[in-house]
Amino acid sequence: CGIVGYTGFQDAYEVVINGLRRLEYRGYDSAGIVLDGDSSTFDVAKTKGKVDDLVAISKNLSGKAHVGMGHTRWATHGVPSDSNSHPHLSNNGKIALVHNGIIENYDTIKTMLSEKGFSFQSETDTEVLVNLIEYVMDVNKDFDFPTAVRYALNEVYGAYAITVMHDDFPGLLVVARLGSPLAIGLGTNEYFIASDASPFVEFTKEAVYLEEGHMATISLESGVDIRNIKDNVKITAEVQQLKLSLEQIEKGGYEHFMLKEIFEQPKSIHDTLRGRLLVEEGIIKMAGIWDNLERLNQAQKITIIACGTSWHAGLIGEYLIEEFARIPVEVEYASEFRYRNPIISEKDIVIAISQSGETADTMAAIKMAKEKGAFVYGICNVVDSSISRVTDAGSYTHAGPEIGVASTKAFTAQLTVLSLIALKLGKHNGKLSNQEFMRLITELESLPKKVQEVLESTNEKVKEIAKNFVEAQNFLYLGRGYNFPAALEGALKLKEISYIHAEGYPAAEMKHGPIALIDENMPIVIIAPKQGHYDKIVSNVQEIKARKGQVIALVNKGDTQVSSVADYVIEFPETSECFSPIIASIPLQLLSYYIAVYRGANVDQPRNLAKSVTVE
Ligand code: G6P
Repeated sequence: CGIVGYTGFQDAYEVVINGLRRLEYRGYDSAGIVLDGDSSTFDVAKTKGKVDDLVAISKNLSGKAHVGMGHTRWATHGVPSDSNSHPHLSNNGKIALVHNGIIENYDTIKTMLSEKGFSFQSETDTEVLVNLIEYVMDVNKDFDFPTAVRYALNEVYGAYAITVMHDDFPGLLVVARLGSPLAIGLGTNEYFIASDASPFVEFTKEAVYLEEGHMATISLESGVDIRNIKDNVKITAEVQQLKLSLEQIEKGGYEHFMLKEIFEQPKSIHDTLRGRLLVEEGIIKMAGIWDNLERLNQAQKITIIACGTSWHAGLIGEYLIEEFARIPVEVEYASEFRYRNPIISEKDIVIAISQSGETADTMAAIKMAKEKGAFVYGICNVVDSSISRVTDAGSYTHAGPEIGVASTKAFTAQLTVLSLIALKLGKHNGKLSNQEFMRLITELESLPKKVQEVLESTNEKVKEIAKNFVEAQNFLYLGRGYNFPAALEGALKLKEISYIHAEGYPAAEMKHGPIALIDENMPIVIIAPKQGHYDKIVSNVQEIKARKGQVIALVNKGDTQVSSVADYVIEFPETSECFSPIIASIPLQLLSYYIAVYRGANVDQPRNLAKSVTVE
């Protein structure tokens, strides 16, 4: 979910609505706004649907207030509906609250409040919290509003980022954070609140990121007062200078963020390598690795934890680290790892990969690994995100903000960082010869150019090919070695944005099951670069053709064998096998993009998904 709040001199409606549009990637099944203007009660509008639907029912609120807040939702408790949308008001109508996260003990509190005579309009946990605040104020007449919020928060457990307003305390916003991010933008005579800095980046470059377990009271009169939720101890705010620019979060002439982000990959890979890969000097510079080199190289085992696309990057990371640094690697879904009592000791390294740096399951898995004494290394894209702060060391992927829900440039940037890590570890522990190291880093340096080349040479072709699969019901994606995880990621991209069922498989495993699905209606995308089990793949393609499957083959330039039997051929430049997923991913991203566009799907905001999943 996304939260925006404002107090200042501008039209709060405009600031909140524009802010919600920027945060829509975080959830978009319902949206709402509350304003504290001249009228005796709050002005509230909320609806199932997107921010555009909210605007359609709330335009009359424009120009009415200088204080307000809004919410764009990704449903957890309760289906997307008008009544379940945020903001939620307490029974007396005086307190309004927007919430991102889950209140786990809401049921017990709801029962208690019901017994005290409270009624509920929605099925949400949020409405329970707002009424708990009202109840705390009823019972403790001497409490001011922020104190009541603090008391209520000490009664709940779960994860949250909240913003609360009280009608009797005009101009005051109370915010709190436990598990879900919240940033406070510090303007001149105005303050902003948002789940990330994008809603206020054009108004101020100064922000405070609220820390875990902290709350803040914000008003024009008293500024920002930060306290510990537990004991009310005052905390000095650490002001950060934002590096985000408006241009980075706008579409820049592309029809969708996803397409823009696909085309940004030569730059995002280059930015991720910049300052780290010094080919002439023959070194990879990465402070996080260098400072902990001994610990990393003496690791008994490396466990990579992640979710979604980042998990796929982790699988490729396993191949890279095992091949070049010869350290055993396991890759786990963070959500499984955290609940299964894994064997982790002080001698272990855990690498957590996360684009957003906020994924709840990954965060919880990190905490568990740390409790078991492991050293946790983070690979995040969002600077200063929760995961980047909680890990012992780490490397950022410098992909820039990724807005499209389906991850593209963050994925290839993750692969770039994992390649750097594997090669650096291998060089220093002697498992990789200097000659091989030099060859690989020279190749790594040429990747941005190759990615540019593949974008230019395949875009139109893929767009044409995509037309043939608008009606497809299923897809298979096959690859071997490094390109098996690339096949998984290709399938995930298609599922996410076109809603076509797709499965990724190691090509050789096909004969143990999926082959039964193959007939003339089954499209099969097969990744078949020259370096990497090519001959074996040729046989797999023959097996598919013998069963009349339609083959879309990704091959290297000049390929003849696979190309002669495939129905559609997409060529990409040759690389060492270890880097081929970076290149092969580009046409796979384009293929899912164009199929989804032809199907009329909402590419940047696919149904039911959210970019940043801050609930478990
Ligand atoms: C969500 C997104 C995916 C992403 C996954 C993990 O499901 O829709 O695109 O891969 O979360 O997110 P993270 O930010 O931790 O990489």
